[in-house]
Amino acid sequence: MHQNIKEVFITAEQITEKCRELGKQITEEYTGKEAPLLVALLKGSVPFLSELIKYIELDIEFDFMDVSSYSGTESTGEIKILKDLDRSVKGANIILVEDIVDTGRTLKTVKELLYTKGASDVKIVTLLDKPDRRVVEIVPEYLGFTIPNEFVVGFGLDFDQKYRNLPYIGVLKEECYK
Ligand code: IMP
Ligand code: MG
Repeated sequence: MHQNIKEVFITAEQITEKCRELGKQITEEYTGKEAPLLVALLKGSVPFLSELIKYIELDIEFDFMDVSSYSGTESTGEIKILKDLDRSVKGANIILVEDIVDTGRTLKTVKELLYTKGASDVKIVTLLDKPDRRVVEIVPEYLGFTIPNEFVVGFGLDFDQKYRNLPYIGVLKEECYK
């Protein structure tokens, strides 16, 4: 285990198993329908996307968006698009891929934006959910794990851009925040 990690919350094996289940669930729900376009939000969702798509047995496509909230306007949910999608989403069945849903502001705004751009349907798959922190109503259709209100890192989740490469989800030692 990494020396800065206090506790492992979710092991690599549990993550793999969960991705297998979610992939199966998505496969079953979209069989016979137009295959979904997975839209992953950079950078945190990359390890999750990579693992999840192995278990989706459909002719999916994936694309990336990078968004950030404007500093000082966090409460409005206004976001800045740092990288937009490469393709049109008109008529697409989208599944937004996120590492974690916290306040829900990012996903609510992105979801509305995709509908504005003409998506037929926008669903959400997230590896983690912290429902205690929610300030806007967002309910992920596909959910990996519900976690308590603790700051976690690993498997895409960062602290100051580090720890994204850990194969598990863990809690950082307090001294690492200073
Ligand atoms: P929100 O739902 O708009 O508040 O934003 C969710 C984003 O906040 C996630 O995509 C992460 O980038 C970040 N985030 C929230 N909680 C954590 C955490 O515990 N560890 C690392 N990043 C987090
Ligand atoms: Mg994020």
